[in-house]
Amino acid sequence: MLISGRGSNLRALLAACADAAYPAEIVSVVSDRVEAPHRGRQAFAAQAELFLGSQRVQLVCLAGFMRVLDAAFVEMWRDRMVNIHPSLLPAFPGLHPQSQALAAGVRFTGCTVHFVRPEVDAGPIIAQAVVPAHPDDDEASLSARILGAEHRLYPLTVRLIAEGRVRVVAGKVEIDGWRAPKRAILNPSEPRRKSPANGWSRTPVGL
Ligand code: GRF
Repeated sequence: MLISGRGSNLRALLAACADAAYPAEIVSVVSDRVEAPHRGRQAFAAQAELFLGSQRVQLVCLAGFMRVLDAAFVEMWRDRMVNIHPSLLPAFPGLHPQSQALAAGVRFTGCTVHFVRPEVDAGPIIAQAVVPAHPDDDEASLSARILGAEHRLYPLTVRLIAEGRVRVVAGKVEIDGWRAPKRAILNPSEPRRKSPANGWSRTPVGL
């Protein structure tokens, strides 16, 4: 796992791995915080490659890893390296996706786990979680809601990969036994329906 910041997704994955039935384990954590900040991309890639190679790593998970990875390193881990991004990609890639979502006035945003490609926040989408925007949201409240979804989505996605159910076909991800939700979610949500007999009357609408 490659991280830079708080490590809350790392904690969520560690919690999932604590269950003996979970099909993956975290064998190493790399944080670029402890590295000398002036080291070049290639030097970091070479060092990370050496380290990961010695640790029986089968999947590299990025979470808030702030370093743009060397293209050769990304290629070496093609379809074996995933990232989580706090928006519904391809919307709002790059920095501050939560503020970008607020500025655009979207009614839903969320998070995406995708295979990593050399371009930033690009690559085949594996799984997404949808989070509603609320009228009084600010960056902090929206980010917290998305983060809660991240902590569910990342362990689920890693489970699917570890079970060997995820593969990339013609640039898109196929998942064996994929269960998708049945219904649309609306925001604003529909008013609760109650019959006039229950004491609620319909609002007359002039068209
Ligand atoms: C998460 O919001 C992740 O989506 C983004 O960076 C943040 C990392 O948070 N790429 P944490 O370090 O896992 O708490």
